[in-house]
Amino acid sequence: MSTTFTAQIPLTEAELKLLQTLVYQECGMYFDERRTHFLRDRLQRRLKACQLDSFYAYYRLLTSREGKKELTALLENLTVNETSFFRIRPQLELFQKVILEGLLKKKQDRRDWSLRIWSAGCSTGQEPYSLAILTCDALAYYYLRNPLPFDVPTPKPLIPPPWKLDILASDINYSALLAAQQGVYTEAQMEAVDYTCRLRYFEKIGDKYSVKPALKNLVQFDFHNLKAEFLPQGNDVIFCRNVMIYFDEAEQKRLIDKFYSCLNPEGFLFVGHAESLFGLTTKFHMIHENNATVYQRIEGTP
Ligand SMILES: C[S@@+](CC[C@H](N)C(=O)[O-])C[C@H]1O[C@@H](n2cnc3c(N)ncnc32)[C@H](O)[C@@H]1O
Repeated sequence: MSTTFTAQIPLTEAELKLLQTLVYQECGMYFDERRTHFLRDRLQRRLKACQLDSFYAYYRLLTSREGKKELTALLENLTVNETSFFRIRPQLELFQKVILEGLLKKKQDRRDWSLRIWSAGCSTGQEPYSLAILTCDALAYYYLRNPLPFDVPTPKPLIPPPWKLDILASDINYSALLAAQQGVYTEAQMEAVDYTCRLRYFEKIGDKYSVKPALKNLVQFDFHNLKAEFLPQGNDVIFCRNVMIYFDEAEQKRLIDKFYSCLNPEGFLFVGHAESLFGLTTKFHMIHENNATVYQRIEGTP
C-alpha cells in the first residue's frame, strides 16, 4: 500500500500571530483559539499553492504590492459561505409581514416610492434572491389593497409602478459573488423553495434552476469589504446575518456603528438568529415578534 506524504511546513507562533493580525486588519475576521486550527490548515494550503517554503515569505508576499491577488485568494479560503434560500423563516416572516408592510404604508404617505435593501455578506446569493421574492410578493399584495392611479404596463412588471426596488448584495468573496450573479442552483440548494415560487421566479435548465432575469434585475451584486470605512448608504433595511459571528467584539461594535449611518432614519437591521446587538450598542432598539428579532435605528442619538 502506498501512502502520499505531504510535508507540513512549520508555522511558528510568531508567524501565526502576524498572519492572524493581517487577516483581522484586512477583513475583520478574528480567529480565536477555537478556530486557529482552521486558519493553520488554510494557510498550509495557500503556502503550497504559492510554492513557498516559509510562512514568513508568505507574509512578505501578502503585504507586498504583488501580493494583492494572493491576499484575495487567502481571504476567499477563510470565509465560510454556508447559506440557503429562506434561511430562518421566522425572521423573514417578520421582515415581510411586519417590517415591509409598515415601511410601505409610511413611504406611501410620504409619496416616497423607493425601497432599498442591502444584503451585506450575501455569499452565493440565496439571501438577496429570497429577499427579492418576499418583497415582490409583499408589494403585489400591498398594491392589490392600495392601488395607485398609474398605468401598469403589460406584461405586468414584478414591481408595480411607481414603486422601485433596489437590492444591493455584497460580499468579500469574488467566487461567491460570481456564483450569486449567475444565479443557478441545484435541486438540493432549492430545497426550501416551494413549487409556486419556482414557477414564478426560476427557469428549469436541465437539472438546475436559474433565477429569471426579471428577478435578477432587482439585485445588484458588488464587492464590499465590511471592514472598510465607507459602506453603501441610504438603506431602509440591512440584512447582515451570520457574518459578525466571525468578528471580535471591537469589530462588531465598529460595524454596527457603520450600519447605523448606512440606514435611513428609523431603518431596520437584521442579524443572524444566533447573533445579537446586546451590549454592543445603544443606538438601536430591539423588536421581538413571532420568535424573531429585528433592530431599529433610534433617532436623535449622538
Ligand atoms: C456564512 S455566510 C452568510 C450568508 C448569508 N448572509 C446567510 O446568512 O445565509 C458569511 C458571508 O460573509 C462574508 N464575509 C466575511 N467577512 C466579510 C467582510 N469583511 N466583508 C464582506 N463580507 C464578508 C463571507 O464571504 C460569507 O460569504
